[in-house]
Amino acid sequence: MRLDKFLSSSGICSRKEAIKLTLKGALTVNGKTVKRSDVAISPECDTVCLNGEPIRYEEFVYIMLNKPEGYISATEDGNLPVVTSLLSEALQRRGVFPCGRLDKDTVGLMILTDDGALSHALLSPKRHVAKIYGFTLSSPLPKGAEKRFAQGVPLKDGICKSARLCLSEDRLSGEIVLTEGKYHQIKRMMQTEGSEVVFLERRAFGGIPLDTALGRGEWRPLTQEEVTILKNAPAKNKDL
Ligand code: URA
Repeated sequence: MRLDKFLSSSGICSRKEAIKLTLKGALTVNGKTVKRSDVAISPECDTVCLNGEPIRYEEFVYIMLNKPEGYISATEDGNLPVVTSLLSEALQRRGVFPCGRLDKDTVGLMILTDDGALSHALLSPKRHVAKIYGFTLSSPLPKGAEKRFAQGVPLKDGICKSARLCLSEDRLSGEIVLTEGKYHQIKRMMQTEGSEVVFLERRAFGGIPLDTALGRGEWRPLTQEEVTILKNAPAKNKDL
């Protein structure tokens, strides 16, 4: 791999900036100052340092974000702010993207990564990865909603997979577990019961709960343990 590619995919700097760093003599490979940013290196075997600090090569990055209201689940939008703009420049440079979508007004757990294969696996309808949402409604859900949700709510684009609904005593709020992601799914499911969602928060994804230490708009890398849970999520969460 070229040194400049290594630096940009490690989120350190752009390829252009890598040229400047080499001119400054800030980069070493195995202790030797490099003169060109296009030299070939082996990320696994060589030690690359910037100003004496070793750069650890990560093939992929996995981020947990507590999405605030008003952000679009995308990497670009003509008018509105996008979730990736909340990340560091280095992560944006790596091409990190959101794994699935939340509506603009939905808040809570988003996973972002540059691991396309894992993202694809987690979003595949065949995998049944569980997502838990907390919600508040405009009016109480009628009796029997739990059973109807478990049986599969019919929407115009198909029958929903069985969803587990857990309601508060006044039936105005609760949690729902989905294993798929149709457009505006929870909002539309609630509408079939004559109610509107007034607040929606994703609280867990594929066995990973939202870190409550993160404020809205804050993010952190997933721990190694969380990455392992996520990688095993498709198979393990088959039966809700
Ligand atoms: N269901 C919705 O209606 N909106 C979301 O953002 C997620 C699930």
